[in-house]
Amino acid sequence: MSKKSLPFVTTIVIFATLFLAGGIMASENFPEMIEMNCPAYEQHKKGIVEFSHQKHVDDYGATCGDCHHDDEGNPLTELKVGDDVKKCSECHDKPGLKPRGKDAPKLSREEELQYHAEALHDNCRNCHREYNKANETKAAPTTCSKCHPREK
Ligand code: HEC
Ligand code: HEC
Ligand code: HEC
Ligand code: HEC
Repeated sequence: MSKKSLPFVTTIVIFATLFLAGGIMASENFPEMIEMNCPAYEQHKKGIVEFSHQKHVDDYGATCGDCHHDDEGNPLTELKVGDDVKKCSECHDKPGLKPRGKDAPKLSREEELQYHAEALHDNCRNCHREYNKANETKAAPTTCSKCHPREK
C-alpha cells in the first residue's frame, strides 16, 4: 500500500464504523414487531394484536407521521428510525373503549380519543378502510378477529 492511500483507507474505515454503529443503534430503537399489550390495561379483553411495525414502513408505505404525532396531534413528519417516541397511552390515557349502550354519555371527539382503544382503532382501521377501498382489496384487516387473535 502506498503512503498516500493510507489516510484515505483510514477515513473509509472510520466512516464505515460510524455508519455501522449508527445502524445498529437505530434498529435497536425501532421495533420490527410490536406486541400491542399496552401496560395501562390491567387485563386485555381481546387477544393481543401483533403489529408489523417495520413492514408498515418498508412494505406498506406508511410514514412515521401517519401514526406518531406531537402533543397537539400534529404529525411528526421529521421523525426517523432511531428517534424516541412516546407511547400512545401517555396521551390517550383512558384504557379500553368508550362506554357504549343507551345510557352511555355523549362524548365529543376529543373525549372519545382519550380512550386508548378508540384512538388505536381510529388510526389503524381508518387507514385500512381507506386503503382497501382505494385498492379494491381486503388485504388490510378491519374485522376484530383479523387483528385480535381469538384464542383468549
Ligand atoms: C402504521 C403506524 C406506525 C408507523 C408508520 C410507525 N409507527 Fe412507530 N409505533 C407505532 C405504534 C402503534 C407503536 C407502539 C406504541 C405504544 O406502545 O404505545 C410504535 C412504537 C414505536 C417506537 C417504540 C416506542 C416504545 O417506547 O416502545 C419507536 C421508537 C417508533 N415507533 C418509531 C417510529 C419511526 C421512527 C417511524 C417511521 C420510520 C415509525 N415509528 C412508524 C405505530 C407506527
Ligand atoms: C404527546 C401526546 C400524544 C401521543 C404520544 C399520541 N397522541 Fe394521538 N393525539 C394527541 C392529540 C393532542 C390529538 C388531537 C386530539 C383532538 O383532535 O381532539 C391526537 C389525535 C389522535 C387521533 C385522531 C387523529 C385525527 O386525524 O383525527 C388518533 C387516531 C390518534 N391520536 C392516535 C394515536 C396513536 C395511535 C398514538 C401512538 C402511536 C398516539 N396517538 C400518540 C396526542 C397524542
Ligand atoms: C397509514 C396506513 C396504515 C396504518 C395507520 C396502519 N396500517 Fe396496518 N396495514 C396497512 C396496509 C396498507 C396493510 C396491507 C398491506 C397488504 O398486505 O397489501 C396493512 C396490514 C396490516 C395487517 C396484516 C398484515 C400484517 O403485516 O400483519 C395487520 C395485522 C395490521 N395492518 C395491523 C395494524 C395495526 C395494529 C395498526 C395500528 C397500530 C395499523 N395496522 C395501522 C396500512 C396501515
Ligand atoms: C386493525 C386492527 C384492529 C382491529 C380490526 C380491531 N382492533 Fe381492537 N385494538 C387494536 C389495537 C392495536 C388495540 C390496542 C391494544 C394495546 O395496545 O394494548 C386494540 C384494543 C382493543 C380493546 C382494548 C384492549 C382489550 O383487549 O381489552 C378492545 C376491547 C378492542 N380492541 C376490541 C375490538 C373489537 C370488538 C373489534 C372489532 C369490532 C376490534 N377491536 C377491531 C387493533 C384492532
